[in-house]
Amino acid sequence: MEPKPDAPFSAGEASKTLVNRGLRSRLHWMPEVDSTNRWAMDEAERGALAFQWYVADSQSAGRGRLGRTWVSPPEKNLYASCILRPNLELHQAPQVSLATAIAVHRTLTECYVKAGIKWPNDLQIGGRKVAGILNEIRAQPEHIEAIVVGIGINVGTARDEFPPELQAIATSLHAEESPVSRTEVFLSLARHLENVMLTLEQAGFEALRDEWNSACVLRGKSVEVLFGAESRQGVVDGLDKDGYLLLQTTHGLERIVAGDVTVRKNV
Ligand code: BTN
Repeated sequence: MEPKPDAPFSAGEASKTLVNRGLRSRLHWMPEVDSTNRWAMDEAERGALAFQWYVADSQSAGRGRLGRTWVSPPEKNLYASCILRPNLELHQAPQVSLATAIAVHRTLTECYVKAGIKWPNDLQIGGRKVAGILNEIRAQPEHIEAIVVGIGINVGTARDEFPPELQAIATSLHAEESPVSRTEVFLSLARHLENVMLTLEQAGFEALRDEWNSACVLRGKSVEVLFGAESRQGVVDGLDKDGYLLLQTTHGLERIVAGDVTVRKNV
């Protein structure tokens, strides 16, 4: 990638490049929106096709996981949501989140940074969060109608520009001295998401599992996983072939489909 870190997001250039590269992805861009996930889901409900991307320069109500807010200052970072209509069964929906994390991981690697995945789908550099993923689903019993994959990548926010409570735990590509523009990051992401979805649909999650496990920052770590009102403590063993987290607990190996994880200190 060429270094053009502060260039404005170029929707025209990005749209042309998607076509020139023979990708299915198509871009819809707005300077400001409440949430690109909300925008994309509304379009999905109106029948928009797979691989339509909704990107904004800023979000007034960016959504994070577990009801959190995703801080989305103008013209700094990438806020992007993509409609997927995967040919998968409903129980495989969590695999789409895991595959998305691989697409983001490949993108970050192409941006010259060494990132890792914290289960289920946070991307970190040196223990600080650089990107997050929020997938939302519309489904019939047993059948996925659409999944909106929402990806926030901190590209240009300087460390001291994050809200005070995030300054010690967040980072961005520019803060990590990766001189990339948001347009380049988006183009890389669109290509990688198409590729991982093709692999997932044609070969199954097993074909992506080793890559996910090698990128995972939690393997061998002692963690606590919260899911609903329950929690488990154990040592992370990676993902199994279906995408469940394998946790070695005092009661044996447990498989966990979703949750929020914290690394236990002093264990
Ligand atoms: C997380 O909490 O880690 C997930 C953050 C996801 C943020 C992205 S930004 C683009 C898309 N639109 C949203 O409202 N959220 C996602």
